[in-house]
Amino acid sequence: MATATTPSDRRGVLKLLAGFLGAGMAALATVPVVGSVLTPLLRKTPSAGGFIDVLAEKELVADVPHRVELSSTQIDAWNTSTAVLGAAWVLKKKDGSLTALSTVCPHSGCSISQKTKDTYGCPCHASTFSLDGTATEGPSPRPMDPLTVQVKDGRVLVKHARFRIGTKEREEI
Ligand code: FES
Repeated sequence: MATATTPSDRRGVLKLLAGFLGAGMAALATVPVVGSVLTPLLRKTPSAGGFIDVLAEKELVADVPHRVELSSTQIDAWNTSTAVLGAAWVLKKKDGSLTALSTVCPHSGCSISQKTKDTYGCPCHASTFSLDGTATEGPSPRPMDPLTVQVKDGRVLVKHARFRIGTKEREEI
């Protein structure tokens, strides 16, 4: 036996459907808001220990040292900050190969600058280095510290590293 539906039953069903539809639309409306709140948490933070893009290879001239800053951009949830980690002397040789040397003096940590066309010099205690980093004068206990360098898609990438100062043996810290 079939049961007849009354107008008030149909109104109840329609109200229920309208309620579900409204709740569904409200839930959909929150997706962009929730997404924008959570997106910063899902971003990757660049590693300070990774390679740092320092300049275009075409900017380098053979046998002319180029000082570059090594900085890292950190994305921490909603904040982006850039920290300077150090600096390097990048040198392109005539054969096209690249070297990178830390500017931190192995003696006491002062910043090494270019002294002449063919030498680097430390202003603190007058250590002198050749362009390949060899210590030639002064109290530096070892050559300048090499950094890993590579070229990718025409960009020069240098890997930042820190070394113990004041020691004859090179030790990364
Ligand atoms: S810190 Fe460079 S020579 Fe002393």
